[in-house]
Amino acid sequence: MRKWIALGASVLLLAALTSGRVAAADGKELFNNVCAACHGETGNADTKKGKAAKAKSFHEPELAAKLTAADSEAVITKNVRTNKKHKNVTKKVTDEELASIAAYVKVLAATP
Ligand code: HEC
Repeated sequence: MRKWIALGASVLLLAALTSGRVAAADGKELFNNVCAACHGETGNADTKKGKAAKAKSFHEPELAAKLTAADSEAVITKNVRTNKKHKNVTKKVTDEELASIAAYVKVLAATP
């Protein structure tokens, strides 16, 4: 009986640790997992998929200006939700995750 209680407690502890880790996953990690295949970890879109899809570099001056503007996080969120190029991407992220990704993209676009 004791053993079972201990086992149950460790399962619960493990579950708590795992979900904590997911919640702590930051925008960078999410971006690298979900967006970097096309946009590249640097945002340069210099990956095979990015080139094939003709994604622009986040550092291209006109786009960089848009992505670092005051309202950029809303712009990025909207784009991921509505741009047809993101049809298969949008399903992979929750609103909360997308918000942290957008905050990271803003930083990435501002970093030369
Ligand atoms: C399957 C490849 C692919 C993936 C994965 C992808 N994108 Fe894109 N993204 C594109 C392409 C292609 C464009 C260019 C779209 C266009 O010109 O209409 C683009 C454009 C953008 C733009 C610029 C929009 C603008 O205003 O011009 C942003 C910001 C962006 N993506 C963010 C993201 C984020 C954030 C993710 C991850 C949640 C992501 N993308 C995942 C292909 C991708």
